[in-house]
Amino acid sequence: MNMRIGIIGAGPSGLAQLRAFDSLRKKGIETPEVVCFEKQSDWGGLWNYTWRTGVGKYGEPVHGSMYKYLWSNGPKECLEFSDYTFDEHFGQPISSYPPRPVLFDYIEGRVKKSGLREHIRFNTAARWVSYNEETQQFSVVVDDLVNDRTYTEIFDYLVVASGHYSTPNMPYYEGLENFPGAVMHAHDFRGADQFKDQNILLVGSSYSAEDIGVQCYKHGAKSVTLTYRTNPIGVSWPEGIKEVPLLKNFEGDIAHFSDGSKERYDAVIMCTGYQHKFPYLPDELRLKTHNCLYPDHLYKGVFFNDLPKLIYLGMQDQYYTFNMFDAQAWVARDVMMGNITLPEKSERTKDMEKWLDRDRANETHDDEIDFQTDYIRELINMTDYPEFDLDTVAAHFKKWLRDKEDDILGYRDVTFRSVMTGTMAENHHTNWIDEMDDSFERYFSESLRQERASEREVLMQR
Ligand SMILES: Cc1cc2nc3c(=O)[nH]c(=O)nc-3n(C[C@H](O)[C@H](O)[C@H](O)COP(=O)(O)OP(=O)(O)OC[C@H]3O[C@@H](n4cnc5c(N)ncnc54)[C@H](O)[C@@H]3O)c2cc1C
Ligand SMILES: NC(=O)c1ccc[n+]([C@@H]2O[C@H](COP(=O)([O-])OP(=O)(O)OC[C@H]3O[C@@H](n4cnc5c(N)ncnc54)[C@H](OP(=O)(O)O)[C@@H]3O)[C@@H](O)[C@H]2O)c1
Repeated sequence: MNMRIGIIGAGPSGLAQLRAFDSLRKKGIETPEVVCFEKQSDWGGLWNYTWRTGVGKYGEPVHGSMYKYLWSNGPKECLEFSDYTFDEHFGQPISSYPPRPVLFDYIEGRVKKSGLREHIRFNTAARWVSYNEETQQFSVVVDDLVNDRTYTEIFDYLVVASGHYSTPNMPYYEGLENFPGAVMHAHDFRGADQFKDQNILLVGSSYSAEDIGVQCYKHGAKSVTLTYRTNPIGVSWPEGIKEVPLLKNFEGDIAHFSDGSKERYDAVIMCTGYQHKFPYLPDELRLKTHNCLYPDHLYKGVFFNDLPKLIYLGMQDQYYTFNMFDAQAWVARDVMMGNITLPEKSERTKDMEKWLDRDRANETHDDEIDFQTDYIRELINMTDYPEFDLDTVAAHFKKWLRDKEDDILGYRDVTFRSVMTGTMAENHHTNWIDEMDDSFERYFSESLRQERASEREVLMQR
């Protein structure tokens, strides 16, 4: 087949695209040449943990925003691949909220099994993209970071899968320049250990603020304050964590809040979200959006409406993750293969408007979950990506929200049933709040599992 496809990024989205073509090859269908450029030395995107902050070995901005002791913040049953289940990968039930190394292993398992590494050029950063109207092809200039060599490749379709939780949104508050302690963004947070015995101020009221807040609490911070701009997270916090209205300014190490209160802090962590940033894309090809469920200009949330040969994966705010990227990649694949014909631009715009209107009407998190569920349902109905019970996954998500409200320190001990296999998740051998080790080895420790099983037996006999 005389067609070339370029992918930028080998995180879960880029890997989903590789896997989508692989599933056709497995059926004996001829597929185009696919080349994926990944600036890191390994795949997995954000799940490929790095201790580095700032710039990497070759001077590139570090992509990683994940940290030590990061556990899944949603049930794994909501992100499960429908063509590669947890049962298939681990061969035994595991808990619903595994730590990062376990999820990394799962992501890697599917692409390793399919031998997809050979399609990826690691340590290779996309530098600049241009589109030639005459040839209807993309030129992609890349840097081979190891050999310090720049070269250009030509593609018929380009898939942008470089993620959008890597470039910090870093606000300024008056007096910050004279704050004597550490000031960092969540992107550079690599673990709570250094904040032991400190009074920590977190700016923001979303997932990063919530999780970094409870991490710092768990690992011995003296106090944790979260300051919100719009709404507080509003769960019932344990003593030692509190939420206050928005920060106004600093005087030395004293923070002043908009309700007139003030307090002294040792460190400030901006959990203020990320910018969609594509420094390798020219103005006319660049997606310009904030973090939302339906970025404008993307037909089916994927195809750049002005030039649908340019495909964006995973650009939405994310309740669903891995299986949503799959659903998108499968549709993208079928359009590239010519099995789905896209409608005219005016029709595409109408379809986008329909979704944008519905998104504007979303009021609650439950509405947002229903929205993203229906979005994925529409995509899955367009291809042969294995169907799964999306209504039950939506119900899992809604339960997850209630669980967090009820017990922010205990919600990760709850278990869910897989809609793919019917397997009920196992209780982890140690409650999350007491589990200080997030390693793969500890997670799968057979002796701890057995110890726990016999403790349970004793309890049942009483
Ligand atoms: C702190 C944090 C915790 C999270 N926790 C969870 C969780 O518990 N559960 C969950 O489901 N989701 C979680 N997420 C959401 C996360 O966005 C997705 O799980 C997933 O990683 C997104 O995949 P992606 O491939 O779209 O992007 P990414 O994972 O960001 O991967 C993008 C890839 O593109 C590469 N790249 C970027 N620029 C270039 C370039 N110019 N040239 C070449 N390569 C490039 C990067 O190196 C990276 O490998 C979390 C996100 C963050 C920030
Ligand atoms: N596995 C885990 O435990 C884990 C941990 C961390 C993050 N994550 C993932 O990481 C992704 C990003 O989450 P995120 O929380 O970093 O980003 P986010 O969801 O985009 O939230 C950004 C937050 O910053 C606030 N904010 C923005 N600008 C501000 C300003 N100038 N002053 C004060 N507040 C400001 C926003 O407040 P407004 O509401 O006012 O806009 C919002 O609360 C999510 O997908 C999440 O699932 C997962």
